[in-house]
Amino acid sequence: MRLRARQQQLDALLPVFYDLWHPQPFCEVRPAWCERWPLLTTELLRLDDDEAAALNVDGLAALACLSRHVADAGDLAALIELPQRGAPLPLDQDGRWAWEIPGRKRAQIEAFASAARSAGQPVLDWCGGKGHLGRLLARQWQVPVRTLEIDQQLCRAGEQLAQRAAVCQQFVTADALAVDMTLAAGQHAVALHACGDLHRRLISHGAEGGIARFDIAPCCYHLHLGDAYRSFSSASSLQLTRDDVRLAVTETVTAGARERRQRDRASAFKLGFDAWRRHLNGDVYRSFKPLPEAWLRGSFADFMGQLCRREGLVQPAGGDLAHFERLGGQRQRELMRLSIVRHAFRRALELWLAGDLAVYLEERGYAVELGTFCARELTPRNLLISARRA
Ligand SMILES: C[S@@+](CC[C@H](N)C(=O)[O-])C[C@H]1O[C@@H](n2cnc3c(N)ncnc32)[C@H](O)[C@@H]1O
Repeated sequence: MRLRARQQQLDALLPVFYDLWHPQPFCEVRPAWCERWPLLTTELLRLDDDEAAALNVDGLAALACLSRHVADAGDLAALIELPQRGAPLPLDQDGRWAWEIPGRKRAQIEAFASAARSAGQPVLDWCGGKGHLGRLLARQWQVPVRTLEIDQQLCRAGEQLAQRAAVCQQFVTADALAVDMTLAAGQHAVALHACGDLHRRLISHGAEGGIARFDIAPCCYHLHLGDAYRSFSSASSLQLTRDDVRLAVTETVTAGARERRQRDRASAFKLGFDAWRRHLNGDVYRSFKPLPEAWLRGSFADFMGQLCRREGLVQPAGGDLAHFERLGGQRQRELMRLSIVRHAFRRALELWLAGDLAVYLEERGYAVELGTFCARELTPRNLLISARRA
């Protein structure tokens, strides 16, 4: 499907389901949609833990579940399927380029390198950390690479790795949000998981500055935003808050079982506290400042003691403590099930965000493709925007 047509369809369909993806069950004990779709609510609340966990990470299955109750929700399924770009390149047998790179990271970099295509231009490796991607591209594409990175220590470490691998790679310690992009005119910019404004600035200033090619895997779209997202392209008019944008990247397919257990426990503790605060101060959600990790490692009683002191609330004692611990656990189980509805729209929102950037480049005269560069089990941030000056 053509980029612009997909973007316009997402732009038209997503607002239709706003009442399903915008409310956060963490803040609203029963989002309003529960009353409108009682059979859907009952079906979700009856799921066992494994079924609920599976639907939370499988957006297509979640959409299928929704479409049995909500007219037209299934139409989104066709819009969130994308082609995977690039056949896997033969593995670089000389492992020198990959010293020090953890296995999953290495696989992501190799997948990115095989999905991107060089036309011989020098490469600008944007927010490149130690320049692992740039180092592989310097070897495989035989072009000079400049890695731009704000952290001087990462640059120094990257320089040493580049020397050991004997590749033509320079490091520039600079703030990507402030560099003059006209200096990169005619180059091929690559960015693997540059967050928020780091990828947005590369696209807007890079297109103005005359970058010849882009290969960008965006990440953390919500970072550096104010309260709302401002769309880039004329094909996009959906209004998203920062929290809506964040929803696009809350997937945890790469989290292990232990990590998931810790996350669920932390969530149950926070919901237990929320229930206690509603009991004392009235039934409205109030956000709370980030919590020290250590508070979540002890008992519920210790957690409540610390948080209630910080928030100026009396602490629950005796039977209340056990009651609100139980309530937190119960709300966490409901949250897992009711969140399936939001999560069904997560990929569509992410595609809308990436599509907004892709269409923006198209409007500036680039030939653009939007695809995936690897399976989502390797990284859920697997979208790749590939653009070349037409
Ligand atoms: C998620 S990492 C990705 C690194 C690399 N592309 C990779 O995939 O291994 C993001 C990198 O952006 C760098 N960074 C953050 N803010 C930056 C800025 N304002 N200018 C340049 N680099 C920045 C960080 O130091 C970090 O190395």
